[in-house]
Amino acid sequence: NGGVHDAKNLRVKLVLLGDSGVGKSCIVLRFVRGQFDPTSKVTVGASFLSQTIALQDSTTVKFEIWDTAGQERYAALAPLYYRGAAVAVVVYDITSPESFTKAQYWVKELQKHGSPDIVMALVGNKADLQEKREVPIQDGIDYAEKNGMFFIETSAKTADNINQLFQEIAKRLP
Ligand code: GTP
Ligand code: MG
Repeated sequence: NGGVHDAKNLRVKLVLLGDSGVGKSCIVLRFVRGQFDPTSKVTVGASFLSQTIALQDSTTVKFEIWDTAGQERYAALAPLYYRGAAVAVVVYDITSPESFTKAQYWVKELQKHGSPDIVMALVGNKADLQEKREVPIQDGIDYAEKNGMFFIETSAKTADNINQLFQEIAKRLP
């Protein structure tokens, strides 16, 4: 087997959730354009971007990415974006315990109101700021495991693990 007829082209709705300032928009910008913006502006409402990746078996996955606004005033809009999403990426900042607590809130919300077969990833971003770390990596690992999520620490600044995040998600698609 392994012939060209095995190639699939998947389209996947993905939503990013997490506290304001954790780096959701920077993760998307790094993934889609290979850039980092240290002066990134807070997202208003939500923004949409798409990016296609190829897997080893020549399947392609087109991620249709909804980058939501983390500020509290936009919280009520979130269901518009996670409803029907095949993938949810819940992001916190490893220097911010408050953002880790907020991530857990989003996981519970997704468990209650998201698609039953949703693929969830927990992402500890800003891994380049090791000297300011306040959330131990083991806390992320444990919480993700308990909730059946994929876990990874990333840095949108250095690009560390950004492509891996999306590759691993693609592998876990049903
Ligand atoms: P909202 O749109 O308000 O929900 O915030 P957001 O989660 O989209 O945050 P954003 O991507 O705009 O990043 C917030 C700040 O964190 C910006 O100043 C970024 O430059 C910075 N930042 C994002 N990712 C990283 C990272 O991996 N490392 C470091 N050191 N800074 C980062
Ligand atoms: Mg943003």
